[in-house]
Amino acid sequence: MTQYIGILTSGGDSPGLNAAIRGVGKAALGKHGMEVIGFRDGFRGLAENRSVRLDGNSLAGILTVGGTILGTSREKPHRMLVGGKEQDMTDAIMENFQANHLDALVCLGGGGTQKNALRLSERGLKVITLPKTIDNDVFGTDVTFGFDTALGIATEAIDRLHSTAHSHHRIIVVEVMGHRVGWLALSAGIAGGADVILIPEIPYDVELVAQAIRGRVRSGRKFSIVAVAEGAMSIEEAATMREAQASKAKAEDKDERQRAKERIKEIESGRGDHTLELARQLEKLTGLESRVTILGHLQRGGTPSAADRLLATRLGSACADFIHEGRFGVMVAARGDGAEAVPLDQVAGKLKLIPMDHPLLDTARSVGTSLGD
Ligand code: F6P
Repeated sequence: MTQYIGILTSGGDSPGLNAAIRGVGKAALGKHGMEVIGFRDGFRGLAENRSVRLDGNSLAGILTVGGTILGTSREKPHRMLVGGKEQDMTDAIMENFQANHLDALVCLGGGGTQKNALRLSERGLKVITLPKTIDNDVFGTDVTFGFDTALGIATEAIDRLHSTAHSHHRIIVVEVMGHRVGWLALSAGIAGGADVILIPEIPYDVELVAQAIRGRVRSGRKFSIVAVAEGAMSIEEAATMREAQASKAKAEDKDERQRAKERIKEIESGRGDHTLELARQLEKLTGLESRVTILGHLQRGGTPSAADRLLATRLGSACADFIHEGRFGVMVAARGDGAEAVPLDQVAGKLKLIPMDHPLLDTARSVGTSLGD
């Protein structure tokens, strides 16, 4: 009997999503004789039953295209805005799964999507996920698709900023995406030869950063490139955040937990001009003029790199094989040159931080890069 699979993309978009949709779709249609239905705009499209049949024609020509042909959203099945109010749409999702005679639902997304998929899986839905995000912070996989493309873009930006920083004897602080982890800032910073790299995993001391820059000036290099992850924090900010997180962890009831969550949000949103503030501080402490470049969504747009196309196609086609074998409640993780099915409960709610003994940290220090500590 023909199997029907649904597919949706959820969370922030990332290069390689279309390559993954194509990888799942082509292997499902061609290799396993399945039918594929796409749902629009993440879980919302499934809740509202907005779908599109994905056949050979609709999957053609999308390998190199950025974004997602299905559209995406950050909405959660159990907390979706309906008529201005948050509503649990899980039942609607379960009903539409049945109504479309689906045998499996493929969710392409980052950390949030893994959590939402686990919730649906616990409700009995046959779910399988793929790990995407430019942040590379999904737990349980060697790497996520989107990361390599963003790394290329951020590295090229750092390369280009060098000549202008050098000509004007300036500090250029370049903000790289990554609100909780520093994989992108660290990797692009090393590949682009940044002089200072600041990441969320290592709270920085602004005085030590300034010292590193002054040291460069003394040795005749009157410019510096500072690559900073958007979630990087000073030692003081990190202490405030730790305190807020500790109150959330030990909250005794729902209200207390909610208040702690709001406090964390407040701290995060209060950091809006954090990178500008850092540049101002460095200007003051070093006497060098400084400028800021925020790379933002440029890092998420456009055609995926060859490595991301390969990874997304590899994981996508493995996903179709796992569905054929009846393996659900898992994420298709990249492992070495292959793919591995990792149970969602081992992935959801966890974050892949840069471990303090990661060789890249040592590499950065070895070539004289300051990590602000
Ligand atoms: O999670 C991926 C990411 O690109 C983060 O690096 C960034 O902080 C966030 O998404 C931005 O999200 P949005 O596009 O919703 O503003």
